[in-house]
Amino acid sequence: MNIFLIGYMGSGKSSIGKILAKTLNYNFIDFDEYIEEKENKSISQIFKDKGEIYFRKAEHTYLKHLNVSNTVISLGGGTPCYGNNMNIILSFKNSKCIYLKTSITNLTHRLFLEKNKRPLIAHINTKDELNEFIGKHLFERSIYYNQSNSTIITDDKSIQELVEAIIIDLY
Ligand code: S3P
Repeated sequence: MNIFLIGYMGSGKSSIGKILAKTLNYNFIDFDEYIEEKENKSISQIFKDKGEIYFRKAEHTYLKHLNVSNTVISLGGGTPCYGNNMNIILSFKNSKCIYLKTSITNLTHRLFLEKNKRPLIAHINTKDELNEFIGKHLFERSIYYNQSNSTIITDDKSIQELVEAIIIDLY
């Protein structure tokens, strides 16, 4: 089986995915890192050199050609929200898609500390502005995130608790 983790930037997809894969003895793909390896550049550098449209096309192509089994895949925050990517995610055989849902307050808090490596929010200077940006952006993206097979609320839970909650949800 494959498990796709989706959710907004900062929702914990990568850290949870890594431990989930280890616990299940599955392979792990961090999709941002996968794209970085294929393109031989960091995500920020891809945005700088080639722009967001190029990134979205590359992201779509790599997703479409992903050949996985017994793998946890932590997708990028925007991956489900462009083109027909969410349909592609939902039509992978023997796979489940889980939405890691985090409150706007927690996302703001986490992302403010590490916004510089994320090109979509790197230009935002204050916590208030970031909070407003996330609120609107998440509202637009929720249509896609809510198509997942299940939703796990991440607020106030440790990584270990979240991994357990996901495993319970799988079986
Ligand atoms: C993006 C999220 C990032 C990365 C890129 C765009 C987005 O991934 O793919 O910066 O559109 O939300 P993370 O969610 O892993 O930060």
